[in-house]
Amino acid sequence: MLEVINLEKSFGGIRAVDGCTFAVENNTITGLIGPNGAGKTTVFNLISGFYSPDGGKIVLNGSRIDQLPAHRVPHLRLSRTFQITRELGKMTVIDNLMVAPLDQMGETLFNSWFRLRSVKRQERKIREKALYVLDFLEIPNLKDEYASNLSGGQKKLLEFGRTMMTDPEIILLDEPGAGVNPTLMKKLNGYIERLRGEEGVTFFLIEHDMDLVMKLCDPIIVMNDGKVLAEGTAVEIQKNRKVLDAYLGG
Ligand SMILES: Nc1ncnc2c1ncn2[C@@H]1O[C@H](COP(=O)(O)OP(=O)(O)O)[C@@H](O)[C@H]1O
Ligand SMILES: [Mg+2]
Repeated sequence: MLEVINLEKSFGGIRAVDGCTFAVENNTITGLIGPNGAGKTTVFNLISGFYSPDGGKIVLNGSRIDQLPAHRVPHLRLSRTFQITRELGKMTVIDNLMVAPLDQMGETLFNSWFRLRSVKRQERKIREKALYVLDFLEIPNLKDEYASNLSGGQKKLLEFGRTMMTDPEIILLDEPGAGVNPTLMKKLNGYIERLRGEEGVTFFLIEHDMDLVMKLCDPIIVMNDGKVLAEGTAVEIQKNRKVLDAYLGG
């Protein structure tokens, strides 16, 4: 579904992504791991169009997406979360969900502004979807809570919910487990597996918690120093000498 070919991105003298090649197959939960500074988040920023690459290609469903501006990427049914959650604190939870797709419509929304009936209809559809997402994530009670009042874990859930609003076919999750307690993490795993099983969503996720990665992800891609170091099943990765050295060396 997603192919990354010889991807390159430097910041000043730092080659953050240094010739990365890998693929994410349809309907998998593919893990991306590696020591701090390996270039994982930069890969996500490149795929989601936040940065443009210095070299290489990113292909989604057979079409190149590496030259699209960031606001076009959501139209590709690809959505992502951020390592640091980006909720809008002064808005309620349901409004945070509802603006997720509006954010992404850009000038299309502006155009439809002149067709009020269709805006109303769209808004009703978006509200229904938001209520569905709240139910799916078992937090309908938080609907009218201000996002700034949520716990760290609840903010992570909201962030996850925001990715669901656009009916993506692929979701990139940057450290969904960071700061989330084990009970909530188990639930989040369940949501990921349900979305994959029931709605055919593909997941590509960065995670530090090895237990989680080993249980949830297949295959797992390991990055080090901007390059792909290894790729395989959890068992293969755990036995890989180069992977062990990269982690121990770091
Ligand atoms: N916007 C940026 N400006 C300068 N350097 C950056 C930027 N983003 C990432 N880097 C650098 O690129 C390297 C890879 O970072 P990152 O992709 O965040 O790694 P990871 O997510 O694997 O920990 C690091 O050396 C980091 O400091
Ligand atoms: Mg990172």
